[in-house]
Amino acid sequence: MTSTDILFQPISIKALDLPNRIVMAPMTRGQAPGGVPGEAQAAYYRRRAAGGVGLILSEGTVVDRPASRNAPGIPFFHGEAALAGWKHVVDMVHAAGGRMGPQIWHTGSVKSFSSDWVPDAPVESPSGLVAPGTRRGQAMSEEAIADTVAAFARAAAEAKRLGFDTLEIHGAHGYLIDQFFWSGTNERADRFGGASLRRRATFAADVVAAIRAAVGADFPIILRVSQWKQQDYAARMATTPAEMGEWLLPLVEAGVDVLHCSQRRFWEPEFPEIDGEGGLNFAGWAKKLTGAVTISVGSVGLSGDVMTSYGGERSTVVGLDRLLHRMEDGEFDLIAVGRALLGDADWVAKVRAGDLASFRDFDPAALARLV
Ligand SMILES: Cc1cc2nc3c(=O)[nH]c(=O)nc-3n(C[C@H](O)[C@H](O)[C@H](O)COP(=O)(O)O)c2cc1C
Repeated sequence: MTSTDILFQPISIKALDLPNRIVMAPMTRGQAPGGVPGEAQAAYYRRRAAGGVGLILSEGTVVDRPASRNAPGIPFFHGEAALAGWKHVVDMVHAAGGRMGPQIWHTGSVKSFSSDWVPDAPVESPSGLVAPGTRRGQAMSEEAIADTVAAFARAAAEAKRLGFDTLEIHGAHGYLIDQFFWSGTNERADRFGGASLRRRATFAADVVAAIRAAVGADFPIILRVSQWKQQDYAARMATTPAEMGEWLLPLVEAGVDVLHCSQRRFWEPEFPEIDGEGGLNFAGWAKKLTGAVTISVGSVGLSGDVMTSYGGERSTVVGLDRLLHRMEDGEFDLIAVGRALLGDADWVAKVRAGDLASFRDFDPAALARLV
């Protein structure tokens, strides 16, 4: 195998010093009773810190809005009990030598695919849609939007106060922020809607600016974005680099330091019509167009993508050469790893030791276990 040294180069992003380039991808585990992370979550994240992960991103954890989550085991990022739980988590991660940011989330009008649970309050979304032509939830008033922006900012301030090293805003996969980006779910005629991605990025830019004001200049802000949606894996909002710039540049100008560009398979080219089948991926184009630090993700070390795992299929181990070559080319700065780390807390240590024979296939049964 190609040398893995590139993965173990340190990187500094404002006040955050990372010892390597491996990020634990945010993964909802749905096992926080009453929305409060407890000892099980603390031990789960601590193990990944001890295993050498450079930066841990938490599972999505929701802001203080009445219908901000779509399943009962999703943790809150507000309220005394949940915040005390998160403080314990980050303290454990730090004690094991790790660094961590919460992924701050609002699920918008997306239904959980694992439960029919509904919140007590009406589900909310930009235009009362969950997908093009499919109604779900009520269209948010300007007051609801302003309150949601404020709720994101409060969560960010709490993240910093609790001692987290960074935070990630979940702007991907068809949830609330992405429902503003997507023309298929944003039909608003006010300043939060419009024909251009730049206009539809206004809500996210307001969230980012409010968070930046809440955390100060030195605290790194990560924003996760995706073209694909839970509602439509083939959705493409930016069909040209110019459109991608129009989408992402205002967000970087509003205060984002790191773009976390979600793909299901990291090696897929974003605009093959421009630079060919081996061309830059989403994180590669985002870096080139905005100059921001970028994180790529998607099927690292495994044969099948995340949706095949949800479908119950086993993924087998694949080598890292393709990833290492792209990182050596400087295409993106960091790589997030989801299922490989969910299934094996020592995955990073094994990569570092070059102990590839000890890698484990991903068994979907692991999705149910928090170990
Ligand atoms: C169990 C599970 C839960 C996930 N939950 C989230 C989430 O809360 N937020 C998010 O942005 N992505 C979520 N994802 C997507 C992952 O962050 C990641 O992008 C995806 O699994 C691809 O990486 P992988 O192929 O290395 O697993 C989840 C994935 C899995 C497997």
